Amino acid sequence: MNTAPETKNVALHATERRSLAKWIACMVVGAAMAGITCATAQSPIVIQFSHVVTSDTAKGKAALRFKQLAESRTGGKVRVEVFPDSQLYKDREELDALRLGAVQMLAPSLSKLGGLGADDFLALDLPFLFKDRAAYRAVVDGPVGAALLQKLEDHGVKGLAFWDNGFKVFTSSRPLRNVSDFNGMKIRVQASKVLVAQMRSLGSKESVSPLIDVRVALKNGQLDGQENTPTNIYTQRLHEVQSHLTVSNHGYLAYAVIVNKPFWDKLPTDIRAALEGALHDATVFENNIAETENNKALERLKASGKLTIHTLTPQETSQWRTALLPVYQESRNWISAETLSALRVAYGAPP
Ligand code: LMR
Repeated sequence: MNTAPETKNVALHATERRSLAKWIACMVVGAAMAGITCATAQSPIVIQFSHVVTSDTAKGKAALRFKQLAESRTGGKVRVEVFPDSQLYKDREELDALRLGAVQMLAPSLSKLGGLGADDFLALDLPFLFKDRAAYRAVVDGPVGAALLQKLEDHGVKGLAFWDNGFKVFTSSRPLRNVSDFNGMKIRVQASKVLVAQMRSLGSKESVSPLIDVRVALKNGQLDGQENTPTNIYTQRLHEVQSHLTVSNHGYLAYAVIVNKPFWDKLPTDIRAALEGALHDATVFENNIAETENNKALERLKASGKLTIHTLTPQETSQWRTALLPVYQESRNWISAETLSALRVAYGAPP
């Protein structure tokens, strides 16, 4: 007898119908938005981890370490797919993708988290806020860091850990020593209101652009300079298209490892615990190597012979600090008094 397809569908068992409905939900709206983990006994849970720097950086290496630990500790029940160097998404796009559940994990710089609506993260961009790496660590490892991560939850995102990078320096097409040298320059910054205010206070124009576009814009003369850590400068090969580097250490760049909250909350408890353990160990690894990676990159930048390198003198630093004081005043428009005062307590310095 000829069985019509309709008849076969009607004959599906209830469990088959549920699987089919789940599969369709996964395909149509994405697992995280549907609040469903699309793994079966056969297929692993997939975590797509997108980031915008190369695998040669501390963040890139730690993402791969997390993948290796997560996969081995869950006995293959989880597969982590790491997409470095903006292969999947650029800076802003990856935050949207995380919220929509198109990727499950990111480690964006803290400067970009204001873009998620968590403006208090902007406090960590304040120029000359941290006198050294230990001061930064004391803030993120203490109550201020915990409160900041908590603020992400209102935006569908869970913050799991802080990953380090280091102090930023400037590269440029002409020397940047005195504040007046910034006049007429167009400098790339990350998408942060504090960093935009920083460049305006120094007297330059700012351009907010994704990291992956910076090299070409510097090469074409659409940008005159940029700020970043030595590792990012070296691995993005920005020294090949710039002639000067100023060791200013005027701000700090670091990351939060964040996940799509509905996805994370719906993971089976044992899997989530194994992933938390893997992330803990990848975090210790990342925070241990970040400083060395930056020191090595600065040496390589010096050895490249492409850049004239200048370290700010104490007098020049003090001139920059004075020019940047208005940023602290302006930041009160965006950052809560609570976070600013908690920072003051933790750090014992302005704002
Ligand atoms: C940048 O955009 O310059 C940085 O956020 C890149 C990174 O992730 O370190």
